[in-house]
Amino acid sequence: MRRIYLDNNATTPVLPEVVVAMQPWWTERFGNASAVHEHGRVAREAVDHAREQVAALLGARATEITFTGSGTESDNHALFGTLQPGQHLITSSIEHHAVLHAGHELERRGVELTVVDPGSNGVVPVETIRAAIRPNTALISLMLANNETGVLQPVREVAAIAHERKILVHTDAVQCGGKLPIRVRDLGCDLLSLSAHKMHAPQGVGALWSRRGVQLRPLLFGGPHERQRRAGTENVPGIVAFGHATALAQSWLPEGPAALARLHHHFESELLRRIPNAIIHGQHVPRLPNTTSVRFPGIDAEALVIALDLQGLALSGGSACTSGAVEPSHVLRAMGLTNEEARSTVRISLSRLTTPEDLNLALTLLEQTITRLRSLT
Ligand SMILES: Cc1ncc(COP(=O)(O)O)c(C=O)c1O
Repeated sequence: MRRIYLDNNATTPVLPEVVVAMQPWWTERFGNASAVHEHGRVAREAVDHAREQVAALLGARATEITFTGSGTESDNHALFGTLQPGQHLITSSIEHHAVLHAGHELERRGVELTVVDPGSNGVVPVETIRAAIRPNTALISLMLANNETGVLQPVREVAAIAHERKILVHTDAVQCGGKLPIRVRDLGCDLLSLSAHKMHAPQGVGALWSRRGVQLRPLLFGGPHERQRRAGTENVPGIVAFGHATALAQSWLPEGPAALARLHHHFESELLRRIPNAIIHGQHVPRLPNTTSVRFPGIDAEALVIALDLQGLALSGGSACTSGAVEPSHVLRAMGLTNEEARSTVRISLSRLTTPEDLNLALTLLEQTITRLRSLT
């Protein structure tokens, strides 16, 4: 059976070139990057080179990059590393749980928290954020692109407002990294999170960019790694892979997003033409060129995902499995969808490896399976 993978917002396949680049760092070049001998020095150089590659993807300085163990850690570090009890955090209800749950934990520890909602189009209005600002607001955390809908958020506008009031801005750019060009100086934010496994590098590596001058307290204590910002022996193979993947993404970025957007646009037009009553969330606002959140009224998304998986097509339901129970997506609920509407939504996410043939076959399988499921009800 031919397998088609359209769940790239969950994770991406590691590129063969990235595997090749990473491989020696497990075998002959196994050194600890903190060691003073040759083995260590070679590993240190490799980590520093990767740091330059990741910085280049963001138009940043290498010294502003801290390697972490995940996008989740980067998000947590941005929030816990800058906020103190008595200060105020503004974030949005469509953030990844790495930000939302960190925000709620900070609230339990004495930070004031405001969670603002998006409109029904999935965009968090700048005015809602402006209205939430208080004299003690210290940080605004607003994602660059949502992982479920792909909807882009007005981070640049929010940063402009925040800086007039000396408020820091963090953006979770985990879903944007390598999909759209990111220039941190143009965005105007102070902290930005990335995750390697969303960019064709392995799972378990992330990066936090923090603008020079931002006071970032460490989350982990131990050795002086990562300029005292993150103790723990570096994951050299993972970091090398991350650096290599960012360099490959960088060479794809000038032309790639427009080509992917054309493929994606054609796919969505066909989806709407071939499947009656399909509704694409955030259809008329700027989105990532790879993400479709689509509702098929009357269809149970979990049943659809399982039926498609049996036929070799991988995509994801608009819900998350929390403690064994399938909960409707908090993002779709925040956009005003009912539980039932959220439960009939799936997320289809392409990558730069997705081909027109993959999408044609996916369309056929979707059309056939939805017709069959609808005939049963
Ligand atoms: C928007 C967003 N932020 C953060 C994360 C967490 O990244 P990681 O899986 O590296 O912990 C994800 C992962 O899905 C994500 O989509």
